[in-house]
Amino acid sequence: MARLEDFRLSQLPLPQRLVVSLMLVVIGVGYAIATYNLYLTYNLTDGEPGLTVSDLRRAFYGRRDNTKIASKIHGGSMEQFLKKSGDKEKILSWIQDGADQKGYEAVVKPILTENCVRCHNPNGLQRFAPLTSYEELMVVTQIDRGEPVGLWARVAHTHIQSIGLIFFVLAGVFSFTSLKSGVKCTVIVLPFAMLLVDFGARFLAKFEPAVVYLMLGSGACMGALFGVLILVPLYEMWLKKA
Ligand code: HEC
Repeated sequence: MARLEDFRLSQLPLPQRLVVSLMLVVIGVGYAIATYNLYLTYNLTDGEPGLTVSDLRRAFYGRRDNTKIASKIHGGSMEQFLKKSGDKEKILSWIQDGADQKGYEAVVKPILTENCVRCHNPNGLQRFAPLTSYEELMVVTQIDRGEPVGLWARVAHTHIQSIGLIFFVLAGVFSFTSLKSGVKCTVIVLPFAMLLVDFGARFLAKFEPAVVYLMLGSGACMGALFGVLILVPLYEMWLKKA
């Protein structure tokens, strides 16, 4: 009987080769869109276009010399929504004067209602950070400590489980390529390790901003590994001479 470890992807009959190939292509496209989504979410965090270390530091460590809302509307990603001149200064001086409820009702609430609430409401794009009441606004007039731990937990558990399953499928397919066993084992272990390092670093970045470099490095590694896990099997199934 043929041994499982001797089986190679290039021996797959056409229907099964199509099943595996299309799955690889679709996962690759999904990953590219996820990367684009990451870019859209974070590229404006520091107020400048382009995704840089400074965006990641601001998003995950925060800006501890400032309140969350001030760092967003003054040189941050939300400044663009304050179109009328003077509105930004009104909010900033309200915070400096102690952020009381009277000033909120009289000055700040109308500005937020006009410019911010369309996204920052319980049904909007930013439903986790609503700005429709004084109590809700108080949450973002605290010191900017970056991503809250609760949000990290929500993102980390779904991503680690779902990307873990994706790597299980990709690494499983990759294990039947014709590369040397040692190379295969390395390429199989690395993505799982990088996934844990990436989300671990995202957590630790709340305490030490330099850790964002580790996060960026492990994220880039994962991207490269996605490429290897998808392209090598495709190459062996369709292009490599038996
Ligand atoms: C078009 C939708 C949209 C509008 C309009 C908008 N925001 Fe945002 N806001 C977002 C998104 C998306 C994020 C998360 C990404 C980011 O932080 O850049 C965010 C994040 C924030 C945060 C950080 C929340 C947190 O807890 O991390 C604050 C504070 C904020 N916005 C304030 C405002 C203010 C003030 C205005 C009005 C001047 C405003 N936003 C207008 C979409 C919007």
